[in-house]
Amino acid sequence: MESFPNNPITHSNNVHRTETMTTTNSTDQQPPARSEFASDFLWGCATSSYQIEGAGFEDGRVESIWDRFAATPGKVKGGASGAVACDHYHRWPEDFDIGRDLGLNAYRFSIAWPRIFSEVGGKPNQKGLDFYSRLVDGMLERGLQPWATLYHWDLPQFLQDRGGWAERGTVDAFLEFTDAMTRRLGDRVQHWITHNEPWCTSMIGNWEGLHAPGFTDFATALQVCHHVLLSHGKAVPLIRANVPDAKVGLSLSLHPLRAASSSPEDEAARLRHDGLRYRWFLDPLYGRGYPQATLDLVKDAAPAIHPGDLEAIAVKTDFLGVNYYFPETIQDAPGEGPLSVRVLPPQDVETTALGWEVAPEGLAELLACIENDYHPGPMYITENGSCYDDVVNADGEVCDVERRRYLQRHLAALRDVIDGGVPVKGYFAWSLVDNFEWAEGYGRRFGLVHIDYDTQQRTLKESGKWYRGFLRQE
Ligand code: FCB
Repeated sequence: MESFPNNPITHSNNVHRTETMTTTNSTDQQPPARSEFASDFLWGCATSSYQIEGAGFEDGRVESIWDRFAATPGKVKGGASGAVACDHYHRWPEDFDIGRDLGLNAYRFSIAWPRIFSEVGGKPNQKGLDFYSRLVDGMLERGLQPWATLYHWDLPQFLQDRGGWAERGTVDAFLEFTDAMTRRLGDRVQHWITHNEPWCTSMIGNWEGLHAPGFTDFATALQVCHHVLLSHGKAVPLIRANVPDAKVGLSLSLHPLRAASSSPEDEAARLRHDGLRYRWFLDPLYGRGYPQATLDLVKDAAPAIHPGDLEAIAVKTDFLGVNYYFPETIQDAPGEGPLSVRVLPPQDVETTALGWEVAPEGLAELLACIENDYHPGPMYITENGSCYDDVVNADGEVCDVERRRYLQRHLAALRDVIDGGVPVKGYFAWSLVDNFEWAEGYGRRFGLVHIDYDTQQRTLKESGKWYRGFLRQE
């Protein structure tokens, strides 16, 4: 088995080794034009159920791990929760009208599992199924191709009470949920994303403790991760059985990784981090099993893997969803965590209001790297966006110039990497509307549309107006 220092797969080197791919500096180019992308390119926005729906306990919805986490003092800024959020549960026609008027041709949403099942082995809740059926009809009526995500972090609390994703039984529960949803929506929804960002589900929720369920145990996180990947692998054939001509994939959150310095120690640290942050997911998904060098490092924390699991996880998918926000800089930090690495905060670079580095070239670098390492087939940017402190001015407008520039620069980088031969087929901006930003609460705005949480008034921001002009080729 290869060891890290000999591993040829490196984020910063790949793009230079791959001749067909270019990562020109898109930063200061003219804003891109839609006509520079393929005519069948998908243009969407992404959202998720817990972040926008509200209607916390309506029509039979039961408690999710995020309701429980948000109700725990100190976990979410301002003591906020998704109980009301953007009230999308009632206001979706208005939100979809906005999406149609923007000129979107696709929309990524997620399904709240706690609206569908209220107990293990129970029957699906008819009202929950009907809600998503109406939602899908609403998208189709407005020319929005529905992209359904099955799991965007809102696990029913009754499953967490039985051990959550750390328990193998949750894989079966996920298959029950998948079966119910694909049977109900499969006549109209062709595109399915099994999981959103398994890194966050497992590591942020169970190791860093910053997301629900809030545990801080590395071994638990790795077991959760294995079950999440396994549930993906097992769900793919089920979705195909229920949905004619289904297109199935999952969405990973990925960062291009940079070493903090040119020292061999920092470069080795970057490769160790790469093993957990990138290859721990992509290697098993593309048939290589978990990276041996990382298994050696995590030692006893390695997950229990049953015979056949790795084959199931390696099921062929129709696309890879990539969520990109920022690059990470990695420093050698002996004794820090299981991998002796530290992720440095950005220094002397442009950042968003959340302190995330603005690096459009990182998007191109990452995509070229994935293509080079795995050839996953069609890729879609299933999330990309930025957080700024938006205000509605006296004229009732939101002049989010930075977000507009962020969007323009990332689309320019995307155009360049596609021109260089990387097969990206669609882009979903995060997010259509401002929403509940998890542990950050409502203070962090990512929308192309501003939400006044007191009145639920929607205001298209300048970034949204630019996206509209771009999509309508004005
Ligand atoms: C991603 C999440 C999404 C949103 C953005 C900002 O990691 O998938 O729900 O919170 O970050």
